[in-house]
Amino acid sequence: MMSSKAQEKDLIVSKIRDGIVIDHIPAGRALIVLRVLRLRGGEGRIALVMNVDSRRMGRKDIVKIEGKELSDDELNLISLIAPTATINIIRDYSVIKKFQVKLPETVKGVVRCRNPKCITNQPREDAVPAFKVLHLDQPILQCQYCGTYLTIDDINAQLMGER
Ligand code: CTP
Ligand code: ZN
Repeated sequence: MMSSKAQEKDLIVSKIRDGIVIDHIPAGRALIVLRVLRLRGGEGRIALVMNVDSRRMGRKDIVKIEGKELSDDELNLISLIAPTATINIIRDYSVIKKFQVKLPETVKGVVRCRNPKCITNQPREDAVPAFKVLHLDQPILQCQYCGTYLTIDDINAQLMGER
Protein backbone atom coordinates (compact mmCIF):
# COMPACT_ATOMS: atom_id res chain seq x y z
CA MET A 1 0.00 0.00 0.00
CA MET A 2 1.21 3.48 -0.78
CA SER A 3 0.63 4.92 2.66
CA SER A 4 2.58 2.21 4.48
CA LYS A 5 5.45 2.54 1.95
CA ALA A 6 5.61 6.25 2.65
CA GLN A 7 5.72 5.64 6.39
CA GLU A 8 8.49 3.06 6.12
CA LYS A 9 10.56 5.45 4.07
CA ASP A 10 10.27 7.96 6.92
CA LEU A 11 11.47 5.53 9.59
CA ILE A 12 14.87 6.53 10.93
CA VAL A 13 15.53 3.09 12.40
CA SER A 14 13.97 -0.18 11.37
CA LYS A 15 11.12 -1.88 13.20
CA ILE A 16 12.04 -4.39 15.87
CA ARG A 17 10.91 -7.99 16.13
CA ASP A 18 10.39 -8.61 19.86
CA GLY A 19 10.84 -6.13 22.67
CA ILE A 20 9.71 -2.67 23.69
CA VAL A 21 9.41 0.71 22.06
CA ILE A 22 9.23 3.68 24.42
CA ASP A 23 7.69 6.41 22.28
CA HIS A 24 6.74 10.06 22.94
CA ILE A 25 9.63 10.73 25.31
CA PRO A 26 10.10 14.51 25.77
CA ALA A 27 12.98 15.59 23.49
CA GLY A 28 16.31 15.27 25.24
CA ARG A 29 15.23 12.71 27.85
CA ALA A 30 16.01 9.47 25.99
CA LEU A 31 19.54 9.23 27.38
CA ILE A 32 18.23 9.38 30.93
CA VAL A 33 15.54 6.81 30.12
CA LEU A 34 18.24 4.49 28.75
CA ARG A 35 20.36 5.09 31.82
CA VAL A 36 17.68 4.19 34.37
CA LEU A 37 17.03 0.93 32.55
CA ARG A 38 20.59 -0.14 33.38
CA LEU A 39 21.01 -2.34 30.35
CA ARG A 40 23.55 -5.07 30.72
CA GLY A 41 24.31 -5.82 27.10
CA GLY A 42 22.40 -9.09 27.01
CA GLU A 43 19.52 -7.42 25.25
CA GLY A 44 19.26 -7.44 21.46
CA ARG A 45 19.47 -4.43 19.21
CA ILE A 46 18.94 -1.04 20.83
CA ALA A 47 17.93 2.12 18.99
CA LEU A 48 18.02 5.64 20.32
CA VAL A 49 16.17 8.26 18.29
CA MET A 50 16.33 11.85 19.43
CA ASN A 51 14.69 15.09 18.33
CA VAL A 52 12.38 13.69 15.68
CA ASP A 53 9.22 15.54 14.66
CA SER A 54 6.03 14.63 16.46
CA ARG A 55 2.62 15.94 15.61
CA ARG A 56 1.63 15.76 19.27
CA MET A 57 4.79 17.04 20.92
CA GLY A 58 6.76 19.08 18.39
CA ARG A 59 9.92 17.09 19.03
CA LYS A 60 10.26 13.75 20.73
CA ASP A 61 12.70 10.96 21.50
CA ILE A 62 12.16 7.20 21.02
CA VAL A 63 13.96 4.24 22.57
CA LYS A 64 13.68 0.73 21.11
CA ILE A 65 15.09 -2.29 22.91
CA GLU A 66 14.89 -5.82 21.58
CA GLY A 67 14.64 -8.69 24.04
CA LYS A 68 13.67 -6.46 26.99
CA GLU A 69 10.70 -6.46 29.34
CA LEU A 70 9.95 -3.67 31.80
CA SER A 71 9.48 -4.18 35.53
CA ASP A 72 7.06 -2.04 37.56
CA ASP A 73 10.00 -0.16 39.12
CA GLU A 74 11.36 0.60 35.69
CA LEU A 75 7.95 1.79 34.49
CA ASN A 76 7.66 4.07 37.53
CA LEU A 77 11.05 5.60 36.83
CA ILE A 78 10.16 6.14 33.19
CA SER A 79 6.92 7.84 34.21
CA LEU A 80 8.84 10.33 36.34
CA ILE A 81 11.36 11.16 33.64
CA ALA A 82 8.99 10.97 30.68
CA PRO A 83 5.37 11.42 31.86
CA THR A 84 4.18 11.57 28.23
CA ALA A 85 5.77 8.25 27.23
CA THR A 86 3.86 5.50 25.46
CA ILE A 87 5.04 1.92 25.96
CA ASN A 88 4.62 -0.42 22.99
CA ILE A 89 5.16 -4.15 23.50
CA ILE A 90 6.29 -5.76 20.25
CA ARG A 91 5.91 -9.45 19.41
CA ASP A 92 6.77 -10.83 16.01
CA TYR A 93 6.93 -7.30 14.56
CA SER A 94 3.43 -6.33 15.76
CA VAL A 95 2.41 -3.97 18.54
CA ILE A 96 0.52 -6.35 20.84
CA LYS A 97 0.09 -3.88 23.68
CA LYS A 98 0.23 -0.09 23.89
CA PHE A 99 -0.19 1.95 27.03
CA GLN A 100 0.58 5.32 28.52
CA VAL A 101 2.92 5.38 31.50
CA LYS A 102 1.22 6.35 34.75
CA LEU A 103 2.71 8.18 37.70
CA PRO A 104 2.76 5.99 40.80
CA GLU A 105 1.44 7.36 44.12
CA THR A 106 4.70 6.63 45.88
CA VAL A 107 8.28 5.88 44.88
CA LYS A 108 10.48 3.76 47.12
CA GLY A 109 14.17 3.01 47.06
CA VAL A 110 15.12 4.38 43.65
CA VAL A 111 16.13 7.96 44.41
CA ARG A 112 17.70 9.50 47.49
CA CYS A 113 16.45 12.41 49.57
CA ARG A 114 18.59 15.51 48.97
CA ASN A 115 18.45 16.59 52.62
CA PRO A 116 21.73 15.35 54.15
CA LYS A 117 20.12 15.34 57.61
CA CYS A 118 17.21 13.14 56.51
CA ILE A 119 17.03 9.85 58.38
CA THR A 120 17.26 8.02 55.03
CA ASN A 121 20.77 9.48 54.59
CA GLN A 122 22.08 8.33 57.98
CA PRO A 123 24.37 5.35 57.47
CA ARG A 124 23.37 3.81 60.81
CA GLU A 125 19.66 3.84 60.02
CA ASP A 126 18.15 1.47 57.54
CA ALA A 127 15.23 3.66 56.48
CA VAL A 128 14.52 3.15 52.77
CA PRO A 129 13.88 6.47 51.01
CA ALA A 130 10.18 6.83 50.20
CA PHE A 131 8.46 9.69 48.43
CA LYS A 132 4.92 10.79 47.78
CA VAL A 133 4.35 11.82 44.15
CA LEU A 134 2.70 15.23 43.82
CA HIS A 135 1.13 16.18 40.52
CA LEU A 136 1.99 19.75 39.75
CA ASP A 137 2.62 20.77 36.13
CA GLN A 138 5.64 18.47 36.50
CA PRO A 139 5.73 15.56 38.91
CA ILE A 140 7.46 16.39 42.19
CA LEU A 141 8.51 13.98 44.93
CA GLN A 142 8.09 14.72 48.62
CA CYS A 143 10.15 12.77 51.15
CA GLN A 144 7.85 10.90 53.51
CA TYR A 145 10.37 11.29 56.34
CA CYS A 146 11.46 14.94 56.22
CA GLY A 147 9.12 16.58 53.68
CA THR A 148 11.92 17.74 51.36
CA TYR A 149 10.89 18.16 47.72
CA LEU A 150 12.70 16.61 44.75
CA THR A 151 12.09 18.05 41.31
CA ILE A 152 12.57 16.23 38.02
CA ASP A 153 15.88 18.09 37.64
CA ASP A 154 17.03 16.75 41.04
CA ILE A 155 16.07 13.24 39.97
CA ASN A 156 17.83 13.61 36.60
CA ALA A 157 20.97 14.94 38.27
CA GLN A 158 20.99 11.99 40.68
CA LEU A 159 20.45 9.39 37.99
CA MET A 160 23.03 10.94 35.65
CA GLY A 161 25.64 11.41 38.33
CA GLU A 162 25.36 8.12 40.11
CA ARG A 163 25.20 5.28 37.70
N1 CTP B 1 7.55 -0.10 16.16
C1 CTP B 1 8.77 -0.77 16.00
N2 CTP B 1 8.78 -2.07 15.61
C2 CTP B 1 7.63 -2.73 15.34
C3 CTP B 1 6.39 -2.07 15.51
C4 CTP B 1 6.39 -0.75 15.91
O1 CTP B 1 9.83 -0.20 16.24
N3 CTP B 1 7.70 -4.00 14.94
C5 CTP B 1 7.56 1.29 16.63
C6 CTP B 1 7.03 2.27 15.61
O2 CTP B 1 8.09 2.72 14.77
C7 CTP B 1 6.52 3.39 16.50
C8 CTP B 1 6.04 2.65 17.75
O3 CTP B 1 6.69 1.38 17.74
O4 CTP B 1 7.58 4.27 16.87
C9 CTP B 1 4.55 2.45 17.81
O5 CTP B 1 4.14 1.78 16.65
P1 CTP B 1 2.68 2.02 16.01
O6 CTP B 1 1.66 1.82 17.07
O7 CTP B 1 2.59 1.20 14.77
O8 CTP B 1 2.83 3.54 15.57
P2 CTP B 1 1.79 4.75 15.76
O9 CTP B 1 0.44 4.32 15.34
O10 CTP B 1 2.41 5.92 15.06
O11 CTP B 1 1.85 4.97 17.33
P3 CTP B 1 1.09 6.10 18.22
O12 CTP B 1 -0.33 6.15 17.74
O13 CTP B 1 1.23 5.59 19.62
O14 CTP B 1 1.85 7.37 17.97
ZN1 ZN C 1 14.09 13.18 53.51
